[in-house]
Amino acid sequence: MDQELPPDNVAASGERRFATDIRAGLSHAQKSIPCHYFYDEPGSLLFEQITQLDEYYPSRTETGILQACVSEIAAGVREGTVLVEFGSGSSVKTDLILAACPEIRVYIPIDVSTTMLDSAKRRLETKFLTLAVEPLVGDFTSQTALPRHLSQRPRLGFFPGSTIGNFGHEPAVALLAGFRALLGPRSRLIVGADLRKSPEILVAAYNDAAGVTAAFNLNLLGRINRELGGTFDLSAFRHDATYDVAAGRIDMWLVSMRDQSATAAGQTFQFANGERIHTEISQKYSIEELRRLASRAGWKPDKVWTDQQGLFSVHELHSPA
Ligand code: TRP
Repeated sequence: MDQELPPDNVAASGERRFATDIRAGLSHAQKSIPCHYFYDEPGSLLFEQITQLDEYYPSRTETGILQACVSEIAAGVREGTVLVEFGSGSSVKTDLILAACPEIRVYIPIDVSTTMLDSAKRRLETKFLTLAVEPLVGDFTSQTALPRHLSQRPRLGFFPGSTIGNFGHEPAVALLAGFRALLGPRSRLIVGADLRKSPEILVAAYNDAAGVTAAFNLNLLGRINRELGGTFDLSAFRHDATYDVAAGRIDMWLVSMRDQSATAAGQTFQFANGERIHTEISQKYSIEELRRLASRAGWKPDKVWTDQQGLFSVHELHSPA
């Protein structure tokens, strides 16, 4: 639907959606904010900073794994392949794949940030002269089709960064099934998934000493203030990250530091001292758990690569003919 509206109306309908989601999320007994709202322009830049933090091992670990396994990935890539990346951000890991696979002729990054997509397109088309970059702007969970002129080409999906962990188990199965429908039969999907490990390492990764993750989390309230006429006092909320060992899940929260109220999207919300707004989950998996999940979504799990310390995993999945 949105695609048929002129640009002003697209922005307006996006804003209505944001307002509706915020009103709903802050009206529940357990208040919450949907996590894809993290990634406005300031949020996307803050996330890039998170990926550079000492404590945030996933980015550099996954990059190391990809460096080591990319020739194995490349061995199965056919001439004319379309590479589709879900939630591409700055596309830094994509270079590794593109450099190893000259057979990839088209790259489709999907992201909510037009700034990120524009700079990725410019950067990659300059670096890879035989590559066409055709960005899709939007939430990767709601893409239902690829451009029709590419329908005859082989497809390779790329879903790095443990973004899969930001979905619960059942939504993750639905998401992977959706990717399979989008990519089609005989496609492949490379998925990066963070592994279960000691709570100390995990909590530090989501609550860094420099406070970048806190700023990223608090930017949600800043965005509500900017876009929905919100009155949140950012200094009266603090970031927290907790790890549930049994569930293998990090939860991110914004904690109210006093009794207070804030108005947003035309409604006023009360926050008790210590009350928590849930903003994100980051599910950790064992290799077997992730493979089972992929199977339930109709993928055939194939190769798996990890780092020497067993921090992170990269999975290759096949879609049956
Ligand atoms: N996919 C990333 C992860 O789960 C996203 C992320 C990293 C994140 N740090 C965060 C999301 C802090 C919200 C808050 O590791």
